[in-house]
Amino acid sequence: MRAIVLVGGEGTRLRPLTWRTPKALVPVLGRPLLEHLLLNLKQHGVDSVTLAMTARAEAIRGAFGNGEVLGIALDYAYEDTPLGSGGAIAATASTWRGAGGGVWNEAFLVVNGDIITDLDLSAMLEAHRARGAVLSLSLHEVDDPSPFGVVDIDAEGRIHRFVEKPKREDAPSHLINAGTWIFEPRLLDMLDPTTFNRVEDGLFPTLCSSGEPVYGFHQPAYWGDIGNPDALLRVNLDMASGRVTSPATPRLTPGPSGQDIYIHETSTIEDGARVEGPCVIGAGCIVRAGASVARSLLWDGVTVGPEAQVRDSILATDVTVEDGARVVRSVVAHAATIPRDASLEGERVEPAEQSLSRDLSKDGAQTT
Ligand code: GTP
Repeated sequence: MRAIVLVGGEGTRLRPLTWRTPKALVPVLGRPLLEHLLLNLKQHGVDSVTLAMTARAEAIRGAFGNGEVLGIALDYAYEDTPLGSGGAIAATASTWRGAGGGVWNEAFLVVNGDIITDLDLSAMLEAHRARGAVLSLSLHEVDDPSPFGVVDIDAEGRIHRFVEKPKREDAPSHLINAGTWIFEPRLLDMLDPTTFNRVEDGLFPTLCSSGEPVYGFHQPAYWGDIGNPDALLRVNLDMASGRVTSPATPRLTPGPSGQDIYIHETSTIEDGARVEGPCVIGAGCIVRAGASVARSLLWDGVTVGPEAQVRDSILATDVTVEDGARVVRSVVAHAATIPRDASLEGERVEPAEQSLSRDLSKDGAQTT
């Protein structure tokens, strides 16, 4: 089966981390998010994937090339500027040739490139076929649906309408569009490949209002998008504590002091330093004596100085936290230095202007 993975967004909510690392390459348990996602697709019989992207995300190509390293055929479709989900799907599929060299004429999968899920795609495809759906959407149940696109769905799973960001009390359900879709090829005729358009705002509601068979697929799978720093931290810590597993082998191994702590073998936790789980510590990090790190995500090459404290935070590649500094609920981007005895709470620190450029993409890690 063929799939399109959408990786051409700007990733504004994940800034400052995405200034230097495209969202699809941010690390989850030491592997790029996209690697987890692609291997999950492969596990369910997807053998060919086109990444729909812009030149800004070229580091993705550097990390995965033609996909041989993952055992999946990968190619790339470029938009000059982001075309939105609808434009990107239409433009990408127009590069495919169907049997006999004509237009593409088989069902295909579309996945948002910023999610971690252990969704059973094979079961979703089976349901799609059995129901004769023109479009199937994976759904995820949330406590508070008000920030999301919510579905109005019947007992058979048929979706009758979408309600964008409803008031909690007005929401027709607690099921949201979880960013994995199965498309029948005839939908491509309804999308414009040349101008910005989003299927969530255009195609999907149009199909429902014209009575087309649009179905939701809901199972109690793990689902986390990494669209903002809180969500990125949560997904990493969830994987560290085993709430979700992935077919990608973590580059990190459980630390000696607790199963919820993953530390790369090249990192050093000095005697007298404290690491409190869940925590994820990438390659070449040093946590000095007297320092403490708790519920945090450290990418590669991070140094936490003596007596410094890091809590509920994300520190990107090559960050230095100097002696006695305190970093709480903060996001610190590439190569930034938090000076001695500084105290940050709830802050976002931009990347350092000049930094050593480390390209770890060859072993599948994040790039800077
Ligand atoms: P924000 O700027 O933080 O909203 O992030 P984003 O631009 O990535 O948007 P969003 O989270 O809604 O995108 C969901 C997925 O679709 C991500 O994997 C994006 O990379 C991808 N995506 C969003 N817009 C486009 C687009 O115009 N073209 C392509 N090819 N992919 C897109």
